[in-house]
Amino acid sequence: MDFHTLCVHGCDGRYDSTGAVSVPIFQSATFAHPGVGQSTGYDYSRSQNPTREYLEHTLAALEGGTDCIAFASGMAAAAAMMELFSPGDHLVVADDLYGGTHRLFAHFSKKNGVMFTSAHTLEEIGDAVTPATKAVFIETPTNPMMQVIDIAAVSRITAKHGLLLIVDNTFLTPFFQKPFALGADIILHSGTKYLGGHNDTLAGFLVTKDADISGKLRFIAKTTGGCLSPFDSFLIIRGIKTLAVRMERQQESSARIARWLTEQAAVTAVRYPGLETHPDYEISRRQASGFGAMISFSVKDEETARQLLERVRVIQYAESLGGVESLITYPMLQTHADIPEAERLKKGIDGRLLRLSVGLEAAEDLIGDLSQALGQSAPPCRREEHSERNPAAAPVPGGSQSQS
Ligand SMILES: Cc1ncc(COP(=O)(O)O)c(C=O)c1O
Repeated sequence: MDFHTLCVHGCDGRYDSTGAVSVPIFQSATFAHPGVGQSTGYDYSRSQNPTREYLEHTLAALEGGTDCIAFASGMAAAAAMMELFSPGDHLVVADDLYGGTHRLFAHFSKKNGVMFTSAHTLEEIGDAVTPATKAVFIETPTNPMMQVIDIAAVSRITAKHGLLLIVDNTFLTPFFQKPFALGADIILHSGTKYLGGHNDTLAGFLVTKDADISGKLRFIAKTTGGCLSPFDSFLIIRGIKTLAVRMERQQESSARIARWLTEQAAVTAVRYPGLETHPDYEISRRQASGFGAMISFSVKDEETARQLLERVRVIQYAESLGGVESLITYPMLQTHADIPEAERLKKGIDGRLLRLSVGLEAAEDLIGDLSQALGQSAPPCRREEHSERNPAAAPVPGGSQSQS
């Protein structure tokens, strides 16, 4: 079945007899048993719920996997994934990762006795493997530096050493990138982003293709309990119906915006894998069918970055990505605030770096907004200020904007 059709119709499951076109929200914590020792297939919603199950089957099919487990957020999925490992185990991890994942590894997994080595190049990944290594964890494209990692090449290393390859596929989604076909064993998603697509729901997923790994993860999930609620499952099912068209359109606008950014005097670097000048352009073309809708760029100085964040009108200065509303993020103060400064600066996450998630607004409006925010043209009609619209949401002086 074509990807577009699968997005709309999901898995084959029919969960009620009314003919409802939309999957019902089974808002039930528990399920009655037909008899002693009997089950309808559902016992308690922490273990499984029909709405969540439909979503899990759909995403497993979209990724080309055999199973998928839905969690309350991407971080809940990542935390459950780390329960696969024991004290003394070692993981090689890409050196550019979402800040929350970095924080999980640095503050929780390490405390639990798991060891990590960060690696940048394929050679470094290979060299970092020790007898204690159990897995390699990568994100591609990386957040926020938009580096592209050659998944097939990493999988040759993991296959050689008998390691798990775990890929965070949040940025491209299975619409553009299929990590299982390139050798991954587990795919992680923040479903909060493109899968949900509307900046209204948190969700996370672990997709698998191996019954043994899936069994372990299901046991962890039902025991630790970070499961996705029936209503949020419904919202992600609804989001996935338009995933393909959203990704196509958001990518189209991103390519235009990225090219436009390269022509602006105040912009000193543009990181978008779809630009032929991107160092990983060829890898990107080879391993993915698209470049996505995330652009990181640097401006000439920190003052310009801060001004731009305060002046945008159509684009919103907010953390997150992948939704219909375009968002601009300041990684230094938001997504990557918890990374020690020296390490952060070494990665290039400084006061001049901005990360743009291109949404579904017209590309001309987004370009116009960036142009006026860079001080190059007149601002468009202003949206009401937060404080006018909702006094309760007035900015708190000194309030933290760091990663939630
Ligand atoms: C690449 C990536 N992975 C994982 C996460 C964590 O997901 P969540 O915010 O749904 O917990 C994020 C969040 O921004 C992300 O960008």
